[in-house]
Amino acid sequence: MGDLGALPAHLAPRGAGVLASGELTIQGIGVEELAERFGTPLFVYDEDDIRARVHDLAHAIAPVQITYASKAFSAVAMAKVVASEGLWWDAASLGELEAAVRGGVPPERIIVHGNNKSFEELERAASYSVGRIVVDAIEDLDRLDALGVRQIPLWLRVAPGIEAHTHAFVRTGQVDSKFGLPIVDGTAERAYRRAVEAGFTVTGVHAHIGSQIFDLAPFGELVHRLSTLRHRWAVPELCVGGGLGVPYLAQERAPTLSEWGSYVREALRGTSADPADVFVEPGRAIVASSCITLYRVGVIKRIPGVRIYVAVDGGMSDNPRPVLYGSGYMAVAASRLYAAHDTAMRVVGKHCESGDVLVDEALLPSDLSVGELIATPVTGAYGYSMGSNYNRLPRPAVVMIRGGRAREVVRREQLDDLFRLEVGA
Ligand code: LLP
Repeated sequence: MGDLGALPAHLAPRGAGVLASGELTIQGIGVEELAERFGTPLFVYDEDDIRARVHDLAHAIAPVQITYASKAFSAVAMAKVVASEGLWWDAASLGELEAAVRGGVPPERIIVHGNNKSFEELERAASYSVGRIVVDAIEDLDRLDALGVRQIPLWLRVAPGIEAHTHAFVRTGQVDSKFGLPIVDGTAERAYRRAVEAGFTVTGVHAHIGSQIFDLAPFGELVHRLSTLRHRWAVPELCVGGGLGVPYLAQERAPTLSEWGSYVREALRGTSADPADVFVEPGRAIVASSCITLYRVGVIKRIPGVRIYVAVDGGMSDNPRPVLYGSGYMAVAASRLYAAHDTAMRVVGKHCESGDVLVDEALLPSDLSVGELIATPVTGAYGYSMGSNYNRLPRPAVVMIRGGRAREVVRREQLDDLFRLEVGA
């Protein structure tokens, strides 16, 4: 991969390269060709990079089981990757469950989550004979009871009372949370008793402490707390959730999947858990950096002495993270990585909101021009999956590149797609 000019290598997919002209390539395919063939905005995933990240984690953590948290990016094509890599799939809704099944993930490797599961979701999960259902609240037991579902092994998701340092919206381990059965007030204990008395099979205990976490220590603490519960309830399995952070900006660094994997593996040595019965559940760290988004510049507004606005053909509908969480991203002139990226510009979308910002202060070439391609790296997680049709923008296409060949795995929405739900339109 080496030097990618203005694009820091640790933010780029592993298949990224650069031509002498400065054009960014993914597995040898130039971004101009990708934009020409598939249009913009475009999500471009380096599938071999996703697989390599999975292998890195597996190498560090085996025989611990790896579950992919599909909320990060749940295309059927991703489910196929998960199926072929032998991972498990975390589904938190009917749609995520269906994506797994359509992608060929064996049902026994699907883990069903959700803090408010419907009868329909539980019924469907049972009809597929999914691998595990994670009980997040007593109501899950009520509904499983009413449905007469007893054969699926259950995990109890607890709120372990661990505070991870991340954005409040994605923090989940603390006591004041909508997720999980609190340990401190005895709810978790009561749920366990109730489950056992009602004849359910509880095989494990689960917790997820949050997302975009840079610190390893909370995971060690979590392993410790969950092992205590596992021991008390005499259940074999334990899942420490996901949450490993990734760098989005040049100056950011996060533990790699290998480092995280080794840390968790090491933390387990101090417990009586059989590592083969332990699960991790990362989403972001598997897919985020394997993807870039390509946009075409449409308008450049220079307000002397104030700011330069660069408007691209997407925006908060394909990446709501900057607006929702104030998340930082960087942008590069994707066909001119060797040009000096030294002029501050605000990269904005085409939505009817001043808040529709993709990169608050990007450094881009001073002579950036209309029609050029811009790439934002690290957009593979919670971008497409959290996208919307705001302003009736069609959702972008998603391309995956494997073995040097690019294929569209999700087509771009067409105008007619935008009206398919409207009765009589
Ligand atoms: N397991 C459970 C039960 C989860 O709720 C989540 C994420 C994960 C695993 C995976 O976490 P990850 O490894 O991706 O951090 N939309 C937010 C992130 C929300 C995370 C929700 N749950 C964002 O864009 O930052």
